[in-house]
Amino acid sequence: MLGGDGIGPEVVAEARKLIDILSADHGLAVTCEEGLVGGAAYDAEGTPLPTRTLEQARLADAILLGAVGGPAWEALPYAERPERGLLGIRAALDLYANLRPAMTYPELAAASSLKPQLVAGLDLMIVRELTGGIYFGEPRGIKTADNGERTGFNTLVYSEPEIERIARTAFEVAQVRGRRVCSVDKANVLESTELWREVVTEVGRDYPDCELSHLYVDNAAMQLVRQPRQFDVIVTTNMFGDILSDVAAMLTGSIGMLPSASLNSKGQGMYEPVHGSAPDIAGKGIANPLATVLSVAMMLRYSLGEAALADRVDRAVARVIADGLRTADIYQGEGRMVGTAEMGDAVIAAL
Ligand code: IPM
Ligand code: MG
Repeated sequence: MLGGDGIGPEVVAEARKLIDILSADHGLAVTCEEGLVGGAAYDAEGTPLPTRTLEQARLADAILLGAVGGPAWEALPYAERPERGLLGIRAALDLYANLRPAMTYPELAAASSLKPQLVAGLDLMIVRELTGGIYFGEPRGIKTADNGERTGFNTLVYSEPEIERIARTAFEVAQVRGRRVCSVDKANVLESTELWREVVTEVGRDYPDCELSHLYVDNAAMQLVRQPRQFDVIVTTNMFGDILSDVAAMLTGSIGMLPSASLNSKGQGMYEPVHGSAPDIAGKGIANPLATVLSVAMMLRYSLGEAALADRVDRAVARVIADGLRTADIYQGEGRMVGTAEMGDAVIAAL
C-alpha cells in the first residue's frame, strides 16, 4: 500500500480499513505492507521511488497506490518528480495493460457535465497501453544548439509485440463485456499508429466473437462527449489513453468514483484511483474514497482471485450511493454530505 501524496494517504487509509474487515470477517487471506512513493518518498529519502519500495512492489501480488504529485515538487528535475515514482513502478513491473472503467451510477447521472440522458447507463472500459509509446520512447530530452536555441523532443514508438499484447487484453476484456472493441489511433498522420491499426486488426481475427472498429483520436474524443454509450471497450496508446480516460471519467459525474488496474502478464497489478493527489483538498477529510475502494474491488478480481468478494465490494458501493451518501465532489443538493472516513465506514457497513 503506497499512499503517496495529497489525498492519497487519506483514501488509501479507507481501503486499508476495508481490507482489514475483509480479512477479519470475510475470509480474505492477505497481508499488507506500507511503503513510500512520490513526493512523500522524495521528502523522506531524496527519491520518488526508493529501492525498498520497488522491492516491496516486485514481491507483492498487488499494489494499491493513492496518488502522487503536488505543487511542492513541481520545480524538481524530471527524474526526481513524484510522477517518476509511478512511471518507474509501471515500467519496472511491466504493467502494460491499464484498465480504466467508466460507469455511471443512476443516482449520479445528474452530476455529469453532460445531459443525464446521454450518460445514464454508461458503462465503458478504456484499455490503455501503459509502458510504451511516447511516455517511454527514446531519444527524449531538451537539447541546446550552438546558437543557444533549444529543442524539446520525445519519440512515439510502438513495436508489434507491444501492440499485440494490449490488443489481446482488450479483446479478452470485451469477451466478458459487450464484445465490442474500438481501437483509437491517429493512423492518418502517425506511422507508429498505422502499425497499431494493422496489428490490432490482425489480432482481431483471433476473436471472431468480438466486433472491431477504429476511430481517429480526434473523432473518438468528439464521440465520447457526443454519444458515449456507443462504446464498450476502447483500446488505445499510452498518451491517447491518458487523455481520453480523463474525458470518460468526467462523463460519469466525478473523477472521484473511478478505479483503475494496471496489469502485467503474470497477473500482478497496481490498483489506483484515476483521480490525482488533489492538493487543494488534502488533509481536509473530504476526499471521496470510493475510487480507491473500487480499486480494491478490481484488485480482488484481477490479482487476488476473489471475484465474489469483488462483487460484494462493488455492490456495497452501489448501495451507499443509492442510500444517498455523498462526498462533496458528488453532492448535488440531495442526500447526505459525508467526509472521507464516514464514506469508508458506510461501505464497510453495507458489506
Ligand atoms: C494517469 C496520470 C499519470 C499519467 C501521470 C501522473 C504521470 O495522469 O495515470 O493518468 O500520465 O499516466
Ligand atoms: Mg492521466
